Amino acid sequence: MPPRSFTYDAQGIACVAGARIPDLASAFGTPLYLIDEGELRTRITEYAAAAGAENLAYASKALLIGRVAKLIEEAGMLLDVVGQGELEFALRVGFPAERILLHGVYKSAAALRLAAKEGVGRIVVDSLEEIPAIAKASRDSGRAQDILIRLQLGIDPHTHPSLATSVPLSQFGISLDDGQALEAVRLALAADGVVLRGYHSHIGSAITELAPFRLAAEALGAFAVAVQTETGFWPDELDLGGGLGIQEGAPTPLAVVEEARDGLAPYAADLGRPLPRLIFEPGRYLVGPSGITVYRVVGRKRVGDGRTYLFVDGGMSDNPRPSLYGSYPLMLATHEAGGETEEVDIAGLHCETGDVLARGVLLPPLHAGDYLVALDTGAYNHSMSSHYNRVATPPVVFVRDGVARPATRRDSLADWLRFEVGI
Ligand SMILES: Cc1ncc(COP(=O)(O)O)c(C=O)c1O
Repeated sequence: MPPRSFTYDAQGIACVAGARIPDLASAFGTPLYLIDEGELRTRITEYAAAAGAENLAYASKALLIGRVAKLIEEAGMLLDVVGQGELEFALRVGFPAERILLHGVYKSAAALRLAAKEGVGRIVVDSLEEIPAIAKASRDSGRAQDILIRLQLGIDPHTHPSLATSVPLSQFGISLDDGQALEAVRLALAADGVVLRGYHSHIGSAITELAPFRLAAEALGAFAVAVQTETGFWPDELDLGGGLGIQEGAPTPLAVVEEARDGLAPYAADLGRPLPRLIFEPGRYLVGPSGITVYRVVGRKRVGDGRTYLFVDGGMSDNPRPSLYGSYPLMLATHEAGGETEEVDIAGLHCETGDVLARGVLLPPLHAGDYLVALDTGAYNHSMSSHYNRVATPPVVFVRDGVARPATRRDSLADWLRFEVGI
């Protein structure tokens, strides 16, 4: 869906956050990532109203740049980072360590040392063998580390298979079925240097149904009860991960939060225990629809079956999602259609048959030099971008009340040459 501010002005020119998109394209070049700052702030406010800002950990993998980290910090939220790279980046741009949750199937010894030294708020344990490693790093640093144990609940979130993260045989989390999860709890409770705060589960991404969130909450509740019976431990936190989709008809943040509370409440009530603090880790919901990508049409071609390709000056290097998941963004012209339309496929300029951004799109006839906008590209575009075919990563520009503020710049040949050795 377009950001709420997206509109065509009286001259039929597409605008976002009070600025004309073609003007932004000529000022900053294309491809261009635009973030509607007002939309992002509104989405943060909506989620925070449902869960409490202090219980929201933005999943920074969706889009990790300094400006977004700052906004998340100012909103009073937590930050979810994966591995050493995101951790170092978040710390370097000034995000407070105590509000960071460190994730990852593998966390290097250096990442654990850094987390311990800086006082990272939570480490989310993803395997049994991590527990002694975290405990050692925290003992060496002289402070105890709060941890959550990530559970593999075996729940199908009805999303793309590559986005389902808690199904049986997934590489994420610790399995409930074979007793490993209980063993992890026992290890954590016995380990000197860690403090077990509770459990974590992220069942997947781009989820459009409410039921899987309910099932996850119930599975966490049932596990918490089983552990309490075995060990006496009752969690004071449960982190339900992120995953809320942005497609038309997807549940609201409030519905997800209420479903999770309702799913868990009976388990706590049965034992006469307080409902643990509930944490959520939204990524896509916050930044996805806040971002759009502007392309310039660079050419057109008819192929044998009569279809027309429009070529744009970006593609899979700035948005790998169509080729990874078949997830085509909605594309709009920056000049309002004045009647005549044609059906086109939109291809990127990379040397790969899969580099098709959208198929069967109805647009006014466009030619080289015209602009096109892809919607919902704020999440998992910039953060998953590549330099395939030595195409530069577009800059991210924030727009608010008609004013554009660059947040990153386009990289260049000069940047890449700096990484070369011995030429
Ligand atoms: C552990 C964890 N939390 C949160 C998220 C964010 O998911 P989404 O962007 O779908 O909200 C992810 C995404 O993969 C994740 O792995």
